[in-house]
Amino acid sequence: MKQYHIAAIGELNVDIILNGIESEPEIGKEKFARDMTVTLGSSTAIFAANAAALGSKVCFVGLVGRDSFGELVCSSLEAKGVDTRFIKKGNTPTGATVCMNYGEDRANLTYQGAMDVMDFEDIHPEVFEQCSHIHLSSLFMQSGLLKDIHKILDMAALKGITVSLDTQWDPLEKWNLDYTAVLPKVSVFLPNEKELQALTGTSDLESAIGKVLPYLGNAMVVKCGSKGSLLVKKDGSRSFLPAFLNKNVVDAIGAGDSFNSGFVSAFVKGLPLEDCQKTGNLTGAVNTTGAGGTGAFTSLEAVRRICKEKFQETIAL
Ligand SMILES: Nc1ncnc2c1ncn2[C@@H]1O[C@H](COP(=O)(O)OP(=O)(O)O)[C@@H](O)[C@H]1O
Ligand SMILES: [Mg+2]
Repeated sequence: MKQYHIAAIGELNVDIILNGIESEPEIGKEKFARDMTVTLGSSTAIFAANAAALGSKVCFVGLVGRDSFGELVCSSLEAKGVDTRFIKKGNTPTGATVCMNYGEDRANLTYQGAMDVMDFEDIHPEVFEQCSHIHLSSLFMQSGLLKDIHKILDMAALKGITVSLDTQWDPLEKWNLDYTAVLPKVSVFLPNEKELQALTGTSDLESAIGKVLPYLGNAMVVKCGSKGSLLVKKDGSRSFLPAFLNKNVVDAIGAGDSFNSGFVSAFVKGLPLEDCQKTGNLTGAVNTTGAGGTGAFTSLEAVRRICKEKFQETIAL
């Protein structure tokens, strides 16, 4: 028996969220924000926290600095039930994102810090002995992991570990990832519509699917925001599942990560891909009923209740 269903490997940082800012920052001036929240950020961390809340046994594999942000990251994950023993402390400071909210719009500024330095050597060999599944996210924010992607995928294959990958957006928009070599080693590829098109250099979803289909290891799910998601299997069969529409969206921050946490939690239980997709659509929708990426995921019981009361659905977890 392996100790963990899922090892989440990837980025860790802190979000410093500023609200009620009087006007845009200007060089040489000082301005006030009315409100500040300092919280666990990063897409892989939101994924891990929510998968743990959904009942999966999750460990996090990452790198932080020897600083108070690193401690905040670890204690926040532990509070969510994520095992942090594979989080290393190194000499590069823990990164942070300053999120400046202006009503509906926001400006983000990120210092990547330790997450950009982490590479294959920082992954404890025991991770590959103790997990059944690896989830990788935000590759383009982590140049060390991007460089070593094949080392990770090959070791996973050797140990019989399934892999899910959500590349997320490339802030530099270079999309420097050879999907023809990477995707065959990935069990579930989880991009959103825009990312899939950018990665494949196409301008419509059909052409993008056509490009990746010959290389799919097993399956892909394309996340389409409030429209829902499209499951594409290796054999070319497809099923589109409309979103469980939430009429009172609090915010959609982390909806994609929450989708991933539901999909992968169902996948590691061995459920059919269609059931994993439905679970993902549900957890994506549940995400929009609470603040930020983890607000709605207090426990599996709470998530079950939201599914029943808001969406008249039963979650397969
Ligand atoms: N407003 C919404 N109401 C209900 N479900 C939603 C809503 N927005 C997103 N979702 C669900 O969450 C999933 C992931 O969201 P999406 O925004 O596509 O991901 P990403 O954050 O990766 O772009 C969608 O496929 C959908 O099922
Ligand atoms: Mg996403």
